[in-house]
Amino acid sequence: MKYNQLTPVEQIVRRNTFIKRCILVLIILAGIYYFVFERTYPVTYEKEVDHFKYGSIGSEPANGLPYWIFKSLPHLFQDKLGPQGYRTFGFLYETPESDLPIGFSKRTVNGLDFVWLNCAVCHTGIYLDPAGEEQLIIGAPANRLKLQEFIAFLRSAAVDNRLTSENVLESIEAVGGDLNILEKLLYRFYVVGRVQIGLLDLKEKLSFLDRGDLNPWGAGRVDTFNPYKTLQLNFPMDKQHVSALELNSAADYPSIWMQRPRKGMNLHWDGNNASVEERNLSAALGAGVTPVTVDRKSLKRIENWLLDFPAPKFPGKIDKALAKKGAPLYREYCSTCHGDGLYFSKHASKYAGQDYDGNDYAVPYDYNTKRYARLGQIEDLNDVQTDSGRFAAYTEEFAAAQNMLYAGYDWRFSHFKKTNGYANHPLDGIWARSPYLHNGSVPTLRDLLESSENRPSVFYRGSKKYDWQRVGYQSYPDAQTPQEIGLTRYDTSKLGSRNTGHEGEAYGTHLSAYEKDAIVEYMKTF
Ligand code: HEC
Ligand code: HEC
Repeated sequence: MKYNQLTPVEQIVRRNTFIKRCILVLIILAGIYYFVFERTYPVTYEKEVDHFKYGSIGSEPANGLPYWIFKSLPHLFQDKLGPQGYRTFGFLYETPESDLPIGFSKRTVNGLDFVWLNCAVCHTGIYLDPAGEEQLIIGAPANRLKLQEFIAFLRSAAVDNRLTSENVLESIEAVGGDLNILEKLLYRFYVVGRVQIGLLDLKEKLSFLDRGDLNPWGAGRVDTFNPYKTLQLNFPMDKQHVSALELNSAADYPSIWMQRPRKGMNLHWDGNNASVEERNLSAALGAGVTPVTVDRKSLKRIENWLLDFPAPKFPGKIDKALAKKGAPLYREYCSTCHGDGLYFSKHASKYAGQDYDGNDYAVPYDYNTKRYARLGQIEDLNDVQTDSGRFAAYTEEFAAAQNMLYAGYDWRFSHFKKTNGYANHPLDGIWARSPYLHNGSVPTLRDLLESSENRPSVFYRGSKKYDWQRVGYQSYPDAQTPQEIGLTRYDTSKLGSRNTGHEGEAYGTHLSAYEKDAIVEYMKTF
């Protein structure tokens, strides 16, 4: 009999202890794995406006860039971006020290920080106020954003032989990255390679952007639907399948404040969707969200906030006497289609309310579709006769495919439809929505009241300087080459960029110069 043999009871106790230890080790390993590789959580913000500017809607996991890659690219590709870095593309930084531009959010995915877009990147404007100070306009069109150039930069990085693990790690260090050993290993052996594959895929999928018959979008515009034809639906994008007309469909960024009164209106430029919720969801796709990665709570928070987020007040002087002359003219010529302001109305206080942050405001606009029969309805293209590119790009075939997307998910689209023209939008905060029309082809409100042959035929977009008289961003219609840097040239003779339409007696372009000035003055109160 061996001396130290265990009794059966001792054997069982010991085995149990061993099993318990194994389980404990497994739990710890699972915990480490979870915290390092399965952690997925966004950076969060307390204030609604900060959530709008920097909050995550879930675009990072599927389409984002690892934070340190995003930070390092301007260093690695200094020759392409210059000292301005991402500002070259019109991205807005709140302060010189800001970590990310407005419209970029951060989320930890599987232990690594990722960044990508949210709503604010396309829906935040900037102007110089009368005192020359920079002012942001939350919810306004991103007047300086050159998204096509940003995409071109990413696509070119994909095939640049400087994009190696070695170089990226060096650039990360140069821009102050403090990766730990594990992260360094991940970047070296996995992350950079994955990013390159992703960018190559982007390059391939968006190859229609290289077509010679594409007129660049320029500042303040994006092609809303053509990228989805290839990114989501794998539609062929060659000349046989997508005509030059359909290809040139860049749309101006719209404003997105005051969504509550827009419920039930047929909006998007062509009025293809009457549901506020679906317009927000399809917009989230534009930011890179997928049905799997979407952060519903976050999106809902933005959506709720936008319902009553007020339009910005005109920051310049208003000649009240002249505006008062313009009011009845506007009412006669414009209000049936666009609704009306309430500035001179004794009913204005009835529309007072509180926004999401609890601030009082008076609604300066009347969105009542019973009073204004055509507001939120669609004007036949044959009548309004504006550029047909954006209209042509949204095809029956695409509408059908869009309503088939995401079968099985409860946020499947069901309201998209092909229409026969462009929508009649409310004109609240219209001063902050220049240039005008769906393709941004008319620089100022005053120009829109001229017939097309008297509107500027060539001008520049992307300025933050403001023309307080004619109402719209400065556009240098007479200058050969403006001094201001970063502007893009807009040529109204190009496909998709025509400035025709919304003219004739029904649209007030026959009125006298004085009457037109009065209407413009009145619209400053919207
Ligand atoms: C990549 C730029 C981009 C991003 C990001 C983006 N949008 Fe937009 N949004 C647009 C453009 C362009 C349109 C106009 C579409 C059209 O009709 O062609 C639009 C239209 C809209 C509209 C309809 C406006 C109207 O009156 O017709 C709403 C509402 C909207 N966006 C909300 C959002 C929200 C909410 C988000 C974030 C979840 C978002 N957008 C993200 C570019 C963007
Ligand atoms: C028959 C309906 C109708 C009438 C009348 C009408 N509009 Fe419009 N308006 C439209 C449509 C439709 C659009 C969009 C066209 C497009 O984007 O291609 C539009 C666009 C606009 C825009 C540009 C909005 C933006 O966000 O870029 C402004 C500003 C505008 N109209 C002002 C006026 C004024 C001022 C009058 C009166 C003098 C007027 N409209 C009369 C239908 C109308």
